[in-house]
Amino acid sequence: MSGSGYDGAHSCSPVVVQAMRRRHLPSVLRIEKQVYPRPWTMSLYLGELALPTTRCYLVARQDNRLVGYAGFMLSLDECHITTVAVDPVRQGNRFGTRLMLELASRAVARGATSLTLEVRMSNTAAQELYRKFGFAPAGVRKGYYAEVNEDALVMWAHDIDKPGYGRRLAELEAALPDRTIIEGT
Ligand SMILES: CC(C)(COP(=O)(O)OP(=O)(O)OC[C@H]1O[C@@H](n2cnc3c(N)ncnc32)[C@H](O)[C@@H]1OP(=O)(O)O)[C@@H](O)C(=O)NCCC(=O)NCCS
Repeated sequence: MSGSGYDGAHSCSPVVVQAMRRRHLPSVLRIEKQVYPRPWTMSLYLGELALPTTRCYLVARQDNRLVGYAGFMLSLDECHITTVAVDPVRQGNRFGTRLMLELASRAVARGATSLTLEVRMSNTAAQELYRKFGFAPAGVRKGYYAEVNEDALVMWAHDIDKPGYGRRLAELEAALPDRTIIEGT
């Protein structure tokens, strides 16, 4: 990977992952507008945050600055990852990995047995991240991203409730240079 935007001055500070709150939304939207061609709006996020039974949204912070966020929607035992994004100037510093680790753990804790998501065909960086979390391609949704005229690759990770998946998460976590501080629930 490129490691573009790596900022050594920040590399030693602890990374905090916590539930997304309304107060985080201005920073979330600032990143959202930079990384997605059709950014979600404030009202869309407020709607998601109002559904805590079926949704889970997390933010990652370092040096008190919001550097990334991720979320899922749970339907029965299937967990649909709706977003994973890292500030462009902070990408390549494992924030995406830390967010995915906590998201996957919370999906298991809430009874999910599989994870799924859509990703742009050309988004190989995200696909690589997802492969590390056990996702495999399962199909294509033609024209899913109409705004950029691009197909979506549908990916699934199955059996996330099984011990093998727990071991995968533990290995990914062990490979991080330091622990993630998880704040709140
Ligand atoms: C995809 C994204 C969330 C990854 O977050 P990140 O913090 O930069 O990723 P990490 O540093 O945790 O990288 C984890 C793995 O992803 C892969 N990866 C990340 N960036 C990569 C790149 N530019 N090229 C290739 N692989 C890459 C690597 O396999 C990497 O593992 P490694 O560190 O062992 O090499 C981030 O690039 C992003 O916000 N992109 C824009 C929004 C987006 O496309 N989201 C996904 C929507 S489906």
